[in-house]
Amino acid sequence: MQELSIQRTTETNEALYDLLLLADPSKEIADEYLVRGECYTAWTSDELAGVFVLLKTRPKTVEIVNIAVKESMQNNGIGRKLVEEAMKKAKQMGAATIEIGTGNSSIGQLALYQKCGFRLQAIDHDFFVRHYEEEIFENGIQCRDMVRMYADV
Ligand code: ACO
Repeated sequence: MQELSIQRTTETNEALYDLLLLADPSKEIADEYLVRGECYTAWTSDELAGVFVLLKTRPKTVEIVNIAVKESMQNNGIGRKLVEEAMKKAKQMGAATIEIGTGNSSIGQLALYQKCGFRLQAIDHDFFVRHYEEEIFENGIQCRDMVRMYADV
């Protein structure tokens, strides 16, 4: 894999939104997280490869509220690097626990997070049915429930 440089950013542009909206189609939610959280971008030479956004949710708890890798660069280990870096940053932010939520149908994401040490915590039943107007299907499975996951950092 190419060298990856990860840095915090406060600037937004179309390329950044293209990534953020891969993880969550709501620009309104993406914007709220950008205002309240810390946004990190990952670069290979001068190409924007990925993003993650961290949010302090409770004392000693940080959540990855958005994480995405450019579609043409997926399945090359960048996502794993981003999750590992997010865990380090969360620790630096004073957290003892990092959390993430993903859909029941997001099989690859559920695999990735568990490979990085995340464990299943809770299920927010019908989260995606309640909060999204359109039905979402992935891997031939309806995305209904939010799987909440956590790891110690
Ligand atoms: N079964 C088993 N393992 C799998 C599967 C599967 N079906 N799919 C992926 N994996 C594994 C891979 O083998 C790899 O494991 P390895 O490190 O042991 O080889 C690992 O999961 C992830 O692979 P990466 O190449 O590091 O991940 P990638 O660069 O493709 O990024 C990401 C993953 C960020 C989820 C990317 O696919 C993406 O941007 N998707 C669209 C946006 C998205 O869904 N974001 C998450 C939404 S949840 C949120 O934002 C809070």
